[in-house]
Amino acid sequence: MSDPQPIHLSDYRPPAYLVSRTELTFDLAPGTTRVKARLHLERHPEREAGAPLWLDGEQLSLKAIAIDGQPLEEGEYELTRKGLSITGAPEAFVLDTEVEISPEDNTALSGLYRSGGMFCTQCEAEGFRRITFYPDRPDVMATFSTTVIGDLTREPVLLSNGNPVERGELPDGRHFVTWDDPHPKPAYLFALVAGDLKKVEDRFTTMSGRDVTLQIWVEEENLDKTDHAMGSLKRAMRWDEEAYGREYDLDLFMIVAVNDFNMGAMENKGLNIFNSAAVLTHPNTATDAAFQRVEGIVAHEYFHNWSGNRVTCRDWFQLSLKEGFTVFRDQSFSAEVNSAPVKRIEEVSFFRTAQFAEDAGPTAHPIRPDSYIEIGNFYTLTIYEKGAEVVRMLSNLVGPETFRKGSDLYFSRFDGQAVTIEDFVDCMAEVSGQDLEQFMRWYSQAGTPEIDAFGEYDYANSRYRLILRQRTPATPGQPEKQALHIPIRLGLVGTKSGRDLSMTLDGESLGRDAVIHLREDEQEFIFTDIEEAPVPSLLRGFSAPVKLSFPYSREDLAFLMAHDSDGFNRWDAGQRLTLLALDDLIAAHRNGVEKVMDTRLVEAFRALIEEGNDDKAVLAEMLQLPSEAYIAEQQPLVDVDAIHAARTFIQQSLAQELRDELLALYRDNQSDAAYAPTPEQIGQRALKNVALSYLMSIEDEVAIELAQAQFEADHNMTDVRQALTLLVHSSRSDIADPALKAFGRKWSHDPLVMDQWFSLQVTRPQADALDRARYLMEHPAFSLKNPNKVRALIGAFAGQNRVNFHRLDGEGYRLLADVVIELNRLNPEIAARIITPLTRWQRFDEARQALMRAELERIRGEELSPNVYEIVEKALA
Ligand code: ARG
Ligand code: ZN
Repeated sequence: MSDPQPIHLSDYRPPAYLVSRTELTFDLAPGTTRVKARLHLERHPEREAGAPLWLDGEQLSLKAIAIDGQPLEEGEYELTRKGLSITGAPEAFVLDTEVEISPEDNTALSGLYRSGGMFCTQCEAEGFRRITFYPDRPDVMATFSTTVIGDLTREPVLLSNGNPVERGELPDGRHFVTWDDPHPKPAYLFALVAGDLKKVEDRFTTMSGRDVTLQIWVEEENLDKTDHAMGSLKRAMRWDEEAYGREYDLDLFMIVAVNDFNMGAMENKGLNIFNSAAVLTHPNTATDAAFQRVEGIVAHEYFHNWSGNRVTCRDWFQLSLKEGFTVFRDQSFSAEVNSAPVKRIEEVSFFRTAQFAEDAGPTAHPIRPDSYIEIGNFYTLTIYEKGAEVVRMLSNLVGPETFRKGSDLYFSRFDGQAVTIEDFVDCMAEVSGQDLEQFMRWYSQAGTPEIDAFGEYDYANSRYRLILRQRTPATPGQPEKQALHIPIRLGLVGTKSGRDLSMTLDGESLGRDAVIHLREDEQEFIFTDIEEAPVPSLLRGFSAPVKLSFPYSREDLAFLMAHDSDGFNRWDAGQRLTLLALDDLIAAHRNGVEKVMDTRLVEAFRALIEEGNDDKAVLAEMLQLPSEAYIAEQQPLVDVDAIHAARTFIQQSLAQELRDELLALYRDNQSDAAYAPTPEQIGQRALKNVALSYLMSIEDEVAIELAQAQFEADHNMTDVRQALTLLVHSSRSDIADPALKAFGRKWSHDPLVMDQWFSLQVTRPQADALDRARYLMEHPAFSLKNPNKVRALIGAFAGQNRVNFHRLDGEGYRLLADVVIELNRLNPEIAARIITPLTRWQRFDEARQALMRAELERIRGEELSPNVYEIVEKALA
């Protein structure tokens, strides 16, 4: 078998044939399902007569094929492992095929598969070709009619896209439902669900008065876990009308929860399919973070109805057209319905940790890649989150009202079409009159731009001179980089007044908070009439996805922490100050010198607690130390143990120095109020739990009692999980083990809670974590076939337990590679994702590099799926 080959954006050609209508019939059975497809085909107007018809098809057993009712002989078509081609077909015709597939054997969870006792589908990106022969590409859009035949008792519920138009009983205890979807769509938006499901129903009236039925379908035992998703859905539907003028376009909108799902959820037209972890919540089983995640994902998938479905992507290189835009939309929604500053802090701290690492690693790619081997590998933080940052920059560049005009133009001009990123940006250029040519480089250039900033106050002339230099490091395949257009939001904070000074640049008054535009490699900005020496507050709100460094002193940072008018930058100043302290401690640890706590940091934290904050969630964020992963991102060479030791030292020092304050903070924020996922309650719980985690870091007897009491009070999962995590992560098995056992027994029936039980054990910093991970892989509740379990156990161990994953005996790496090798056969998409931590070997010392590379080589020795092949080749290149 030859190595998988990349495909290139530059080779794009429209398909030889378009499909106007697709009629499907599924005769469901777990072992052998029959799929009949009738496609109404027509030559693409831009393609030459005689160009052959190509139909993608994988793992299908072809039973019949006919053109305009005339069966094809062998030799009239050519069949390969990838699909089927027909030469000499008419210019317009009807193609009938019949295939057999085996949902039961589908462990890749792409195409039609079984999850528990039900049938479900995942077709994005290229799963439909595992269902039937089809031009499985997003620029082929058809209306669909789907008849699903199932067993009356095993599959009482039969769902597909659009509206149900006919149903009836058949002989032998079978029945059918026919669904019709009037909106033309690419095959990746096809969905089918069949099983013994129960529904919760609600209604929504759209802005034009259309009455929509909303349904959430779940297994019976989960009927009490749908309220929050339903509420989120209705809020999202209203928000999209108000913020974007977009209303829903069918009479029925369905969400289905399934346990086995590769990703978070999928926006299939009218029938969104969700990973149960991304839709089910209950105060007793889901944490605040889970409630917020559900709200965001429900909104995300709903928003795709316009940004993705009505207007879709011409080809998969344009994936960020729908994903970047839709993430931006869901982030804007979540910011509005929650605490906006906290949302931004959370987004950015995640982004700077995980996306920056991706952009600096061997799989770095532009938001619009030039080539790929397996598109399933490109559902990345770069395509999604960096794509959203770029849309956010666009929105800020043209201003919110103009952005809305641009999106209106985009939706109306391209409704029902499959388009490109240029089409989107051109709409923004057209309505704003701005030249966005240089801006487009954000889409084609990989890597995180680095900005070095220097500033100088000229007392004699009351001027402030700011120099900005940008450079983007080389990434694989892109040795040279061009200058980007980088919007930098800033303020100059007067050191005397503590207030933003009004800024004048080139004679133009900018106000006290403004955006300057860096377009060259280096630019100088001279602000005039600056009456007092300022500390610059740069990149406010993270106005561009870049790394910005400025030679701040610790005094400058403490000052910004206290005075910056931008809440985001106040938080960031705290992070920067902590990082400076960490640098010293990491160096001390490496040199074997005694660690000394920076008293300025203690005082800054004390001031934070004393001053308090109306937004408790913001205060909780400000008190949170940067994660080990984020600290690692800042180091030229990652010293896992020194980072862990330094961070633990700061945590323990703060806990000792501020013990009374933290105890008071904990007690002041305890509450017996009935659980609600409101921003106020979430902030309060976050603050209380941050205090508890500091106190537990010194294993203070009072803290242990508080944690045990919080665990036993069993008030809500946020508090229970945090308490249990702190007990389990302590060095005291006498307090950890009983709680862990009690929890595991209580929740053994609930897979989503058991996921949490797995995660919190394998992220324990104690030395036995790896043995536990291996041991838990044998636990009856664990299965490599369930992606949530893999993420909860293996993903959490390799991604969050840095000291143990990077053990110097290489056992952590070996564990991950063992799992990748097994998953490569079972579920290539998950295998190619879970491998990520191994691909980052360049960042570590030589001994670890060698061990990590050896595991990658061991994986390379296997017969690999294209997914894993692509990642491993890039990692070892
Ligand atoms: N379009 C989905 C979303 O972001 C993601 C589906 C990706 N699925 C996959 N198996 N690669 O909402
Ligand atoms: Zn999406």
